[in-house]
Amino acid sequence: MGINIKIMGVEKIKEKVLITGGNRGLGYELVKVFLRNGYEVFAVVRSIEGKGKLEKEFKENCYPIVADISSDDSIKIIKSTLTKYTDQIDILINNAGITAKEHEIMKVTTNEMSNLFHIHCLGVVRTVQATLEMLYNSKNPRIINVSSRLGSLTKMASGEFKGRNFSYSYRIAKAAQNMLTICLDQELRDKGIYLGAIHPGKLKTNMAASDADMNPSEGANNIYNWVSSLKVKDRVEFVQPLVNELEW
Ligand SMILES: NC(=O)c1ccc[n+]([C@@H]2O[C@H](COP(=O)([O-])OP(=O)(O)OC[C@H]3O[C@@H](n4cnc5c(N)ncnc54)[C@H](OP(=O)(O)O)[C@@H]3O)[C@@H](O)[C@H]2O)c1
Repeated sequence: MGINIKIMGVEKIKEKVLITGGNRGLGYELVKVFLRNGYEVFAVVRSIEGKGKLEKEFKENCYPIVADISSDDSIKIIKSTLTKYTDQIDILINNAGITAKEHEIMKVTTNEMSNLFHIHCLGVVRTVQATLEMLYNSKNPRIINVSSRLGSLTKMASGEFKGRNFSYSYRIAKAAQNMLTICLDQELRDKGIYLGAIHPGKLKTNMAASDADMNPSEGANNIYNWVSSLKVKDRVEFVQPLVNELEW
């Protein structure tokens, strides 16, 4: 089961992280930073090309899993693939996401809204269902949901983004994901699992907003440094790691 390393004759079990959307953008940078720091990384990608890219680049400790988290099939695929390698996951990072465009109610389609909800909110339900038993086998299990400043009801209600033409679908899907994070915390913290929601920064990725100002590698390093020191007893947070706390 996985590969462990020996330090001074004592076997050190590598921590294991599952990251969705690991083939590009923030997810790819997260894969790199966790590998650099000695983790075994399970990267969920939705295409064979994404899997090939990771396999070519990372010969050890990186296990791509091809699954589309917008489909219920992903639950079985993720669970059965993980079972081949491990019975423990220490950190689940729900990073995969898509963007949307319509910002006027008469142009929004329920199809677009449904697609976004399926990935940002239901995708998290699916990966949690796929990994929960394995998270219970960790000494310090953490679930981190990559949210967005645009999912903050408080920021939205304050008018901070008024006139910026951000899509209905994305804002609503991230707000729903935030509620899911709080619901999960209320069920799972007493069972020993830490929950957190993060805004990763305004990243220069394919999904970049017009005010993007941060390289995804910097965002990934901040997330790594933050998440690697979290403990279950810490309260549920909505933060930009190492930068500030956000209001829900
Ligand atoms: N960029 C920002 O400034 C910013 C700010 C706040 C929050 N975020 C959040 O940060 C996360 C990462 O964003 P990013 O900027 O790195 O975006 P990105 O560069 O567009 O990458 C998105 C990743 O998600 C994967 N993905 C999308 N739908 C999927 C599905 N159904 N199943 C599996 N994987 C799927 C993509 O795979 P493919 O390559 O196959 O499409 C890709 O690997 C997202 O949740 C986003 O909402 C980003």
